[in-house]
Amino acid sequence: MIYMDNAATSFPKAPGVPEAVAHYLSDIGASPGRGGHQLGRQASGIVQEAREGIARFFNAPEARHVVFTLNLTEAINLALNGFLREGDHVVTTSVEHNAVMRPLRHLEKDHRIDLTVLPCHAEGCIDLQDLREEIRPDTALVVINHASNVLGSVQPLGEIGKLVEDIPLLVDAAQTGGIIPIDFEAYNISMLAFSGHKSFMGPPGVGGLIIREGLERRLEPLIRGGTGSRSEDEDQPDFCPDRYESGTPNTAGLAGFNKALAFVESTGTQVILRHELELMGHLLDGLRQIDGVQVHGPRGLQNRVPLVSLSVKGVDNAILGQLLWQEFNIATRVGLHCSPAAHLTAGTYPAGTVRLSPGYFSTEGEVNQVLEAIASVVTLPGKVSSPSSS
Ligand code: ALA
Repeated sequence: MIYMDNAATSFPKAPGVPEAVAHYLSDIGASPGRGGHQLGRQASGIVQEAREGIARFFNAPEARHVVFTLNLTEAINLALNGFLREGDHVVTTSVEHNAVMRPLRHLEKDHRIDLTVLPCHAEGCIDLQDLREEIRPDTALVVINHASNVLGSVQPLGEIGKLVEDIPLLVDAAQTGGIIPIDFEAYNISMLAFSGHKSFMGPPGVGGLIIREGLERRLEPLIRGGTGSRSEDEDQPDFCPDRYESGTPNTAGLAGFNKALAFVESTGTQVILRHELELMGHLLDGLRQIDGVQVHGPRGLQNRVPLVSLSVKGVDNAILGQLLWQEFNIATRVGLHCSPAAHLTAGTYPAGTVRLSPGYFSTEGEVNQVLEAIASVVTLPGKVSSPSSS
């Protein structure tokens, strides 16, 4: 099998991740922050190691301001629902994922916020001047997808952070966290939503939000409940991370995440990125040589994450993806990728695209096989055409 769906979730996971998850489940098992016994302390150590690891990795000042959630979507929901107030103006972009768009559109339809969606150019980036012009005195939040999961385009986050000045900036780092450098402090980020299972190569069920100190006074929790702290009090604690972490956490996932982070840090994000972009370069060159293949997003490797969306004139994406899987054992993701806005931006709505996303364990040989497979499928139009795709 050739796995080209790392933008959805990485596979395989980093070495040692399955064993670390199994070790927690077989040998520790206890709930962190709940028991004074040895096993409880070991479990607390796993959670603390993950918190400190994330703070170190993203240069966040305080580990206690790293809050773990089930996934990045939950972290974004916490940020948007907890931070925004009636009448707030929000600026976002036209390449957001539905993790951002759906909560924002819900708040807008409920007449709670006024939303401005900045159009990106077809390759997937905003114009900084447009952002400057859309910021108003009542702008409460700017929400930016650091890299589009459809186009692979990376937004200039450092410049955006400077431009917004004291307006809080929420960053969706789903496709960049773990591979493209993000400096929470230097980029003037107020809330950073990350995923543990994509470029970090950890297990699913680990995401989170880094919250700038002081924001916890305004940011309401998404859920309330037991935290293992201040148990005498029926009110939710007001301090980080307990204010936002109720119920038993995913310690098994965090144990795996720690292993994954150690692998990423010891290998080096630059080494990982260089390998993945080399594969991307090879993939892009090869795709451009196949007649009828249209590649969307940035032309080159500058400011991109390792994914590419393509379509083939006269060929149905779903059938192309299905043939790649059935005939060649190549796993891709087809359709709108939970980001209709990005497809509208790229001009690929509603047909969508076929997305290829190599990972750190992908090889040049695999990329060659993918190119050969696409070339052979594309030359059989009778097999892949559908009336709706012309
Ligand atoms: N957002 C993830 C993707 O792009 C799931 O596939």
